[in-house]
Amino acid sequence: MNEQVKRLQDLQAKAQMGGGEKRIASQHQKGKLTARERVDVLLDEGSFEEIGMLVTHRSTNFGLDQEKYLGDGVITGYGKIHGRLVYVFSQDFTVMGGSLAEAHAQKICKVMDLAMKNGAPLIGLNDSGGARIQEGVVSLGGYADIFYRNVQASGVIPQISAIMGPCAGGAVYSPALTDFIMMVENTSYMFVTGPNVVKTVTHEEVTSEALGGASTHSTKSGVTHFTAENDVVCLQNIRHLLSYMPSNCDEDAPRLPYDLGNEKREKLNSIIPPSAQQPYDMHDVISEVVDGESWVEVHKDYAENIIVGFARLAGRSIGVVANQPAYLAGVLDIKSSNKAARFVRFCDAFNIPLLVFEDVPGFLPGTDQEWNGIISNGAKLLYAFSEATVPRVTVITRKAYGGAYDVMNSKHIGADMNFAWPTAEIAVMGAKGAAEIIFKKEISEAADREAKWKEKESEYAELFANPYSAAERGYVDEVILPEQTREKLIRAFEMLENKAEPVIKKKHGNIPL
Ligand code: HXC
Repeated sequence: MNEQVKRLQDLQAKAQMGGGEKRIASQHQKGKLTARERVDVLLDEGSFEEIGMLVTHRSTNFGLDQEKYLGDGVITGYGKIHGRLVYVFSQDFTVMGGSLAEAHAQKICKVMDLAMKNGAPLIGLNDSGGARIQEGVVSLGGYADIFYRNVQASGVIPQISAIMGPCAGGAVYSPALTDFIMMVENTSYMFVTGPNVVKTVTHEEVTSEALGGASTHSTKSGVTHFTAENDVVCLQNIRHLLSYMPSNCDEDAPRLPYDLGNEKREKLNSIIPPSAQQPYDMHDVISEVVDGESWVEVHKDYAENIIVGFARLAGRSIGVVANQPAYLAGVLDIKSSNKAARFVRFCDAFNIPLLVFEDVPGFLPGTDQEWNGIISNGAKLLYAFSEATVPRVTVITRKAYGGAYDVMNSKHIGADMNFAWPTAEIAVMGAKGAAEIIFKKEISEAADREAKWKEKESEYAELFANPYSAAERGYVDEVILPEQTREKLIRAFEMLENKAEPVIKKKHGNIPL
């Protein structure tokens, strides 16, 4: 028995060492944790149970039979985060660069299957040189097996990907299919083709960092939703993010205890500037309304004209979508429509109620937008809101102009409760532009054109630059004082808690992709 115990202990000790001391030291030198250290930081202390520690590859190509590592370059298993079950895989760059081949992929697929069957989130920690070159097509097959499961799991369990090293070639598509991506600054990158191929094909000279580093993907492409300054912060952020989500699509997100007190927020009364042309920061509205310290912004540096993120309202998890008048006047464009649509669909898939703050002058005009498809991209946001069945509440703080009024969670597309502040302007367009069009003749014929224009502008503004025409028709349920907003929202979401909307039977809709 002693010998058998020793054999097992030796194997376990060997597996712990991954690709060996030298490669572990090199990983640390790059400022990266090892795959096992990452799992330890991610999960509740002592909760990790490993699956498949002794798996090895079966390849004999190019001398691989002489190069076997227990675990085949990926640590897989399950554990807990804040006491809740999660499944995890963590690629080990010290073993053949974390490269993915048959056995490595099978291990990942095994935890993906378990996660789906048991209704718990899947977290993938990616650090890999891509397809294991020596194993050829089985590596490609392994990737496709994972992609397929990513899609099957989409909308069933939350899937989160952390990019903590290289992630190149087709390997990028598994993270892209998951719900949220986090990248570690300066040590991670993602691209379909690396700088060398780029140089050959397009003659562009570009570094890995500029092509696909964390800052590129958080600002230019929007591929990553979050960035973190190092591995530890990244893993802690994943823990925090999960606290806003249920474990699967049949559950509700965890609710924190909250004692209602004085929910009046007088600061909100003075946020809207005197002139409709002046910007203000919608973050100030959000932070006054939601529970203190609960705001987690998603895609913070991308398409900043719209703000999306998670927060809590009286302890309940909610998803917030808000126009940002401080950036491009809060206009809707291609990027912001895509950003918000994807977020709305995530919240709807996982029973997270939606709160919308609206101050939008319309869609961005111009050839760039039209030629790149603002029509079909704007339609994505319209589609996402229209199909969402979670409780949906809108607060119009100022402008709700044109098609953007319809799109931004209006009553007409299924919002449950719509509030407006007295500063709301719900109209086809701003008063100045409207007067210029409908009173063109009168203005051009007037002796003092400027004065006439001003007169007609205020005539239009009197009728529409307010929330009352919309309130008369019930498009707005209540006009409220800004200071009442938090209390009204808490009550509205409480009232909507048991909302059940019949789902029309169909295979699936056809969102304008
Ligand atoms: C096998 C690999 C490997 C790979 C790295 N290694 N990538 N082994 N298959 N894809 C091994 C190296 O041989 C080395 O082994 C160890 O991992 C560390 O690699 P280094 O090059 O020393 O590390 P570093 O300098 O940090 O560079 C990392 C790297 C580079 C940039 C990732 O290794 C690299 O460019 N690798 C190839 C990337 C690639 O082209 N992959 C295929 C992409 S196509 P030793 O024994 O020395 O430690 C793809 C298709 C997927 O993935 C399609 C899915 C549909």
